[in-house]
Amino acid sequence: MIRENYSLLTYNTFGIEATACRFVEYHSENELIAFLQGDTIAAPYLHIGGGSNLLFLEKFYPGTVFHSCIKGIEIVEETGSEVYVRVGAGVTWDDFVAYSVSQRWYGAENLSHIPGEVGASAIQNIGAYGVEAKDLITKVETVNIRGEKIVFLVDECGYGYRNSIFKGEERKDLFVTYVTYRLNKQEHYTLEYGNIRKQLDRYLELTLENVRKAVIAIRESKLPDPKQWGNGGSFFMNPVVSRERFQEICARYPDMPFYEVGEEKIKIPAGWMIEQCGWKGKSLGAAGVYEKQALVLVNLGGATGEDILRLSDAIRASIQQEFGLDLHPEVCMIGLAGK
Ligand code: EPU
Repeated sequence: MIRENYSLLTYNTFGIEATACRFVEYHSENELIAFLQGDTIAAPYLHIGGGSNLLFLEKFYPGTVFHSCIKGIEIVEETGSEVYVRVGAGVTWDDFVAYSVSQRWYGAENLSHIPGEVGASAIQNIGAYGVEAKDLITKVETVNIRGEKIVFLVDECGYGYRNSIFKGEERKDLFVTYVTYRLNKQEHYTLEYGNIRKQLDRYLELTLENVRKAVIAIRESKLPDPKQWGNGGSFFMNPVVSRERFQEICARYPDMPFYEVGEEKIKIPAGWMIEQCGWKGKSLGAAGVYEKQALVLVNLGGATGEDILRLSDAIRASIQQEFGLDLHPEVCMIGLAGK
């Protein structure tokens, strides 16, 4: 499907009114390859998934926006204890998690209810409650802008906290088509993070279904439904600082929550810092800081991308002043100062 001057309103969970000069949607890898080989795609171009991590800063995107509708969940290998599942980039992430839970495959349940599609899980290395997509991924299949297939094994993807080589400028010409995940057939849970165990106490038994239910309940209690308040999940990444820097901040804020990242690095929750600076529940025009989780910026109705950016800049200035740290947006900005 190729459309001109196409509204992206339903393709970004922030609910920003933006229009793409050209919009291309494809249903199979072959369709994508044939399209790219038959047409030289001029810059700018952009590939979007569920649009749950995007902020359009301008009302008009002057290039081509691609969207994958490649579906399918297929077992490609199975052993006594593990199953390898190849999933189309256009499958809704949570449909894949729900399917895995229904099949009694362990591993993805902590990532329940994360908005977006499977392709983005591999680009963004989505994560929640102590599990990241990279822990499950074994292979990422891509097609480049010239229509050539390139396959990456997990070790070649450069995964880090909400990061991968696919986010780098030089790899923006790659479109993810399929992701293969390895899931466990034997009972196995990750329950150490935050209040997941506390939430599970409300259920009679520890089962895969109940872990999924607990994660969904925690997320629903903290994160706004994009249908009600447009948002892109966590707007900023949690800064990772040296132990020395952490101790300086801790001297002023002894109750600060934190997570150890290896021996020398500490992750400080940006939501907590934003709350300390008094931003929780506050707004600037039509852009607001969510009242239950300060890491989430919301569209209070009719906000433009620039409104959200203005709020983000004001928050970053406060954090710089109070904590001497630069917050980096997790949300990918398109247009103006962004890419
Ligand atoms: N906190 C506050 N005030 C706030 C928000 C948080 O004091 O307004 C404190 C909490 O009390 C807690 C700590 O900060 O002690 C961490 O909060 P939370 O567990 O809600 O997680 P987070 O660090 O804010 C990260 C991810 C989320 C993920 C959760 C759970 C990032 C950028 N965000 O948030 O991911 O769901 O952990 O694992 O790493 C997303 O990426 O869009 C996302 C929602």
